[in-house]
Amino acid sequence: MTATTPSGAPLIEARDLTKYFGSVVALHDVSLSVRAGEVLCLLGDNGAGKSTLIKILSGVHPPDSGQILVDGEPVVLGSPRDALQRGIATVYQDLAMIPLMSISRNFFLGAEPVSGFGPLKTLDIKLADRVTRTALKQMGIDLRDTSQPVGTLSGGERQSVAIARAIHFGAKVVILDEPTSALGVKEAAVVLRFIAKAREQDIGVILITHNINHAFPVGDRFTILDRGTCTGTFDKADLTPTQLLEHMGGGAELAEIEHELEKPIPAA
Ligand SMILES: Nc1ncnc2c1ncn2[C@@H]1O[C@H](COP(=O)(O)OP(=O)(O)OP(=O)(O)O)[C@@H](O)[C@H]1O
Ligand SMILES: [Mg+2]
Repeated sequence: MTATTPSGAPLIEARDLTKYFGSVVALHDVSLSVRAGEVLCLLGDNGAGKSTLIKILSGVHPPDSGQILVDGEPVVLGSPRDALQRGIATVYQDLAMIPLMSISRNFFLGAEPVSGFGPLKTLDIKLADRVTRTALKQMGIDLRDTSQPVGTLSGGERQSVAIARAIHFGAKVVILDEPTSALGVKEAAVVLRFIAKAREQDIGVILITHNINHAFPVGDRFTILDRGTCTGTFDKADLTPTQLLEHMGGGAELAEIEHELEKPIPAA
């Protein structure tokens, strides 16, 4: 069972969003919702409209029509800052981190804790280290030394630090656009475990991925986009990974792969 906001409404809900780029319909009447403690996977082929949808939810693009509700209240997200202030954080693949800077400096980038007053104000590095270590530990990442450069972390750990940072600074909804696409199997597993951890903390997660093997283990529900249209939202309890792949239009591809595999290996 998933928790709800005090109002019982989803943390974020999109109703009938439509977005044009010139004459291209990137999204047509698309709806979705995410509750606290729920992972919603957004699936679909290249160009299906996934990034456009999350850019609308994170205040980058205004929709041409449709409505966004946060905690059940209609809102206008005029900018990414607007979305952040309402607790909606988006973690992009490039993560906006500085590899040579320490983990804790990156964690606090733009929000550094200071000690002293007026002209004597200095960055409180010890405090930054301590808070970062505690915040990461709460999310299940045990890093002994947060003064090491972020560049020394693995790709999966870096993604996890970026997600932990969003949650520490008040995100209730974390949107992840293809966080595992550039990662190897083990690295992707680090991020997926981390997403499961965020769910335990009642965060709502929107996970965009092409990879059903990544989506299925962590997703509670799956929304499928096809050329700008939502072709369905499914509960995990109601389908198998193969059925999900079929809904994604992968059925034909699967049959083709199976057919190819059955062919004898051509003689040299
Ligand atoms: N800024 C833009 N200007 C013009 N067209 C755009 C813009 N952003 C997206 N589009 C178009 O909108 C459609 C949806 O693109 P979008 O990036 O949302 O797809 P996606 O599902 O994220 O694809 P991918 O899996 O490749 O990331 C595409 O036809 C794309 O070319
Ligand atoms: Mg995209």
